[in-house]
Amino acid sequence: MPLSVKNIDLPLGAVISGADLSSDLDEPTFSLIRNTLDERSVVVLKGQRIRPEHQTRFAARFGKLLVHEHSKNVLREHPSVSVLSNIQEQGKNIGVPDAGMVWHTDGSYLDTPDMYTFLYGIEIPVKDGTPIGNTLYASTTAAYDALTEATKRRIAALRAVHSFEYHSINRVRAGGTKIEITEQIRKKIPDMAQPVVRTHPVTGRKCIYVSEGHTTHIAGMDAKESAALLRELWDHTRKPEFVYSHSWEPGDLVVWDNAATQHRATGDYALPLRRLMHRVATEGPAPY
Ligand code: SIN
Repeated sequence: MPLSVKNIDLPLGAVISGADLSSDLDEPTFSLIRNTLDERSVVVLKGQRIRPEHQTRFAARFGKLLVHEHSKNVLREHPSVSVLSNIQEQGKNIGVPDAGMVWHTDGSYLDTPDMYTFLYGIEIPVKDGTPIGNTLYASTTAAYDALTEATKRRIAALRAVHSFEYHSINRVRAGGTKIEITEQIRKKIPDMAQPVVRTHPVTGRKCIYVSEGHTTHIAGMDAKESAALLRELWDHTRKPEFVYSHSWEPGDLVVWDNAATQHRATGDYALPLRRLMHRVATEGPAPY
């Protein structure tokens, strides 16, 4: 199949066909994917039949692969590959059954958060002939651009606190399982202040960098004012005109940019409908 790129009719998202990640991509094909990702923030690479070593080889061309010490559901032979799945074997989950149910950007509670995430759809639940378990992506750059000049000025120098513990609390609120926050985790992943508006390290565009899943408050602001401002920014960022809903097919590898987007799993499926995904991420710079 010839290589083709089709932009989705939104400020983000492109579908790329004809790139086979089971082979080592030549430089022009890789550059095309990379440039499309920089421009469109989410790319869907269709029709893949890849193993973990192919997924990690491709991802490693974008940066250092992350191995999060707090992730338990990783492949033994490929510690940078996490399993997201509702499938159970011998009564045990084979992966994280409820990842990402609240809007977030990956690893924003870390000093150097995830830059790109690579999610490979292996088994996708289908109900009455329609795939379910969509992932939603919001463009934080388009959302920033659409803010009023007064709001841009108001938030320009603010910092907000992101928390892994809060992520865990939110996960339970969204109906997910509890992540046990030990003293050791608290020390390793302390709450982290990040700019409310970050500058994209590649494109230089401004991105809204607060999310409902991870951000607790605006540093140094009165609690009520902070809650109202965060709510305003979250609601604005997920307006339909900034959001792409990806309907998965087995063989899709979706790559997203965690500076220029936030995302959420819809999680609208349950066994016996099975979902199995493999996830890899690369490290980014500290947001500025
Ligand atoms: C995630 O937030 O990384 C999971 C997205 C999904 O499983 O749809």
